[in-house]
Amino acid sequence: MAEDLNITTSTNKAEQYQSLIPQIEALLTGESDLIANLANVCAALKEQFKWFWVGFYLVKGDELVLGPFQGLVACTRIGLGRGVCGAAWQQEKTLIVPDVDAFPGHIACSSLSKSEIVLPLFNDGKVVAVLDVDSEAFDQFDETDAVYLQQIIELVNFK
Ligand code: SME
Repeated sequence: MAEDLNITTSTNKAEQYQSLIPQIEALLTGESDLIANLANVCAALKEQFKWFWVGFYLVKGDELVLGPFQGLVACTRIGLGRGVCGAAWQQEKTLIVPDVDAFPGHIACSSLSKSEIVLPLFNDGKVVAVLDVDSEAFDQFDETDAVYLQQIIELVNFK
């Protein structure tokens, strides 16, 4: 496919995801390189939603290490159970944080980030990465984001 996105002007979040997901699927189809695919997922999400920060942290040993992302420079290493990312890794579940200051142990890579969603990615039953999305607005993310972002990360093949 042509490497450009059709950005919908709909203000309906579900419609935005429904427009974007087939395009991400097309971007990933036929490409086996993990980093290339993670990078394009970040770019596509950032382009559609204009969120403050979108990126992946990859499990390396006992830490998460910064992977492909779109946004400002960020902390590079996060321990198991540390911050929202480390908590989502440890708990093996999606975490939606409407106010990062109210999350015990939140790691503030930027003071501009106000809310966050983190989803773990699995391979062979183990967490291999997390997708972290940050917003400058409080209460940006909800179950709709969790459902559609889950569909997006399931398009990524870690094998
Ligand atoms: N806030 C995250 C750290 C990563 S940055 O937001 C990019 C956390 O608490 O895990």
